[in-house]
Amino acid sequence: MKDHDRYRVLFLCTGNSCRSQMAEGWARAMWGDRIEAYSAGIERHGLNPNAVKVMAEAGIDISGHRSKLVDDLVDVGFDLVVTVCDHAHETCPMFPGGAEVIHVGFDDPPKLAEAAGTEEAKLDCYRRVRDEIKAFVETLPDVMKAETGKDIPASRPEATAIRDGVRERYAGIATADGGCCCSSTSCCAPDALGQPDASAKLGYSDNDLSAVPEGANMGLGCGNPQVITALKTGETVLDLGSGGGFDCFLAAGQVGDSGHVIGVDMTPEMISKARANADKGGYGNVEFRLGEIEHLPVADGSVDVILSNCVINPSPDKPQVYRDAFRVLRPGGRLAIADVVALGQLPDGVSVSLDAYCGCVAGAIPARKVEALLQEIGFVEIAVEVKQESREFIKDWFPGSGLEEHVRSAEIRARKPAGCGCCG
Ligand SMILES: C[S@@+](CC[C@H](N)C(=O)[O-])C[C@H]1O[C@@H](n2cnc3c(N)ncnc32)[C@H](O)[C@@H]1O
Repeated sequence: MKDHDRYRVLFLCTGNSCRSQMAEGWARAMWGDRIEAYSAGIERHGLNPNAVKVMAEAGIDISGHRSKLVDDLVDVGFDLVVTVCDHAHETCPMFPGGAEVIHVGFDDPPKLAEAAGTEEAKLDCYRRVRDEIKAFVETLPDVMKAETGKDIPASRPEATAIRDGVRERYAGIATADGGCCCSSTSCCAPDALGQPDASAKLGYSDNDLSAVPEGANMGLGCGNPQVITALKTGETVLDLGSGGGFDCFLAAGQVGDSGHVIGVDMTPEMISKARANADKGGYGNVEFRLGEIEHLPVADGSVDVILSNCVINPSPDKPQVYRDAFRVLRPGGRLAIADVVALGQLPDGVSVSLDAYCGCVAGAIPARKVEALLQEIGFVEIAVEVKQESREFIKDWFPGSGLEEHVRSAEIRARKPAGCGCCG
């Protein structure tokens, strides 16, 4: 399978004016959450107004489509090309990129309409072909399976469902009081929840483990942000998805009384737990704020260092997480993030599983995509270091699933440019 989220299908005919445009319209309407549909031609004829009219009658607006040439789309990388005009399979070019090509010829409505006496009879020709194309597009997942052996993946959970699911999962963990909260083995470290061992495997020292209030180390991380950057006395540190406050308390020791640590988490039960832990430990330089990492409750340009441990990967809007991180960092401020990245395309069953989202796996993207995102936002000194040895603890997250072959923990470093006072 290619390195993209949804299957890409191209409907191809000579002029990309009528049949291929109707097929694209139907495919987007029926399968838009599972298939990216495109259409193109080998000549540019413009959009047929009668095709637009009869599609509108069926409730589908293709008036915004434009007539495209195959050459315009060579870089897209299709899984399947469907030629839809009578002889397209003979006249169409060989398609680059290894896509499967199948031919499904439909009659040409303008040609059929030549013999029609009235305007309404002409439109009936278009309607007939429209409905034939619809019947074909309805079977697209089956066609795809038969022709290519590939299943079109089920749709991914919606952003709200992911957020609600993640929040519910971590609320359960926060209130489980050390026992396993999980309905399945899908917490970030389900086997070791509430046990210091899990964090010991991530590179925390015995001193770290004993320095924090009991219950703060919940064994939910995938790395140790404390080793990614050296915190300095007096710095302001922000922890994205602070959980029980483990990394915040360790950071508090590093920045001292003149420094300040803010933990942000969207799960109220986690915030309550972290605040109770702060009270237990008597921390005067740590506070916890309820909020989403995509919309941080933190002022512009006010933070020296952003830490995070195994939180960004399940976010349904990772670009927004990094944009808001950029906003709150001071010029010259730095990111020191431990997160899970994908080694390639995740198996279909994983990428659509809400359980796997909550378990810090399904939302993972490749390291190079993280780098590209950071670069686009304006970060500099970007480094995403994939920790191959993390396979050892990741295999315990979903035992027997083989997921350790698809994801790794990574250390993500980047800096907001020092002369960037204007763009926060
Ligand atoms: C895997 S746990 C990690 C907790 C902590 N960083 C640690 O290492 O112990 C993920 C935490 O991030 C929080 N979280 C997940 N997605 C979030 C989001 N979009 N905004 C804010 N918090 C989020 C969860 O509520 C949970 O407490």
